[in-house]
Amino acid sequence: VERSSQFGRVLADNGNAVEAMLDKLLSYSSETDAIKSPQRLMEAMRYATLGAGKRIRPFLMIETAKLFNIHNEAIVRGASAIEMIHCYSLIHDDLPAMDDDAIRRGKPTVHVAYDEATAILAGDALLTLAFEVMADERVSPDTVLRAKLVTVLAKAAGARGMVGGQMLDILAESLVKPLTHAEIQTLQSMKTGALLHVSVISGGLFANCDPDTMSKLHSFGRKLGAIFQISDDILDYTGDAALMGKKIGKDAGRNKATLVSILGLDTAKAQCAKLAEEAKSVLTSIACSGSKDILLETVDFIVSRNT
Ligand code: IPE
Ligand code: IPE
Ligand code: MG
Ligand code: MG
Ligand code: MG
Repeated sequence: VERSSQFGRVLADNGNAVEAMLDKLLSYSSETDAIKSPQRLMEAMRYATLGAGKRIRPFLMIETAKLFNIHNEAIVRGASAIEMIHCYSLIHDDLPAMDDDAIRRGKPTVHVAYDEATAILAGDALLTLAFEVMADERVSPDTVLRAKLVTVLAKAAGARGMVGGQMLDILAESLVKPLTHAEIQTLQSMKTGALLHVSVISGGLFANCDPDTMSKLHSFGRKLGAIFQISDDILDYTGDAALMGKKIGKDAGRNKATLVSILGLDTAKAQCAKLAEEAKSVLTSIACSGSKDILLETVDFIVSRNT
């Protein structure tokens, strides 16, 4: 799929804005901070967060709000909170007790570059900082909106979302009887889908969308989340480790439950393509004044990415 240069530009522009915001949020900002976080912790948080990553979750929040002509610095702040949760999830995902990976985003994982205790604590600190950032009045003066954003993010990150999905993923490694297709879909909707879904939903909440539009955004976000993990699993078989900045072939090696493992590569690809068409058709049905081009291209990007 040939992507427009406009898409590449928007992805890069958003990425740069998020990078700058994260850099600011992960700095010693005020000389009046009597108690500073330990330098080693702050360094590890910055190491895990800055300098690389597709920034697809913040991109989704920002571009969803743009459908309704909302775009400002405040949404970049909120979107950066979601990216912090994602970065924390990667630090913990790579720990020896979990996937035991040594390379992430093209450099040594946090527990390799620092140590396990620092990696666990940097993850914990990014998770909590994310909520501090999302609840801040600089995201919105509307306290009800902020409470909603914090609530949906907490649900997506927690036991019924990403963390719960990670638990299912780890449990599945040692099952004698493989998970069913439906069980793998549930696992994926939690471990990965939830954070992508909440990114879309947060954009809609931020733009104060009506209930009918929100329900279409829910559907769009869920489909995107599914596509994202299926394509990650496909790339684990077919991708280029150097481009991806992480090891490949690790899922089969660890007996991971993926759609590729139960359906095979071709069927998993077909499934991904079908979901992509569905995602685009839901998006097309949304009534909004802004252009849908970028988000339509995002669906293709997720399916055909090589990073
Ligand atoms: C990787 O996420 C982990 C999954 C949830 C599949 P990304 O592919 O978004 O990783 P970065 O942020 O670009 O490094
Ligand atoms: C990671 O899934 C999901 C989360 C971090 C929540 P994977 O374990 O497949 O991600 P990679 O392949 O290591 O990036
Ligand atoms: Mg994992
Ligand atoms: Mg992993
Ligand atoms: Mg993977």
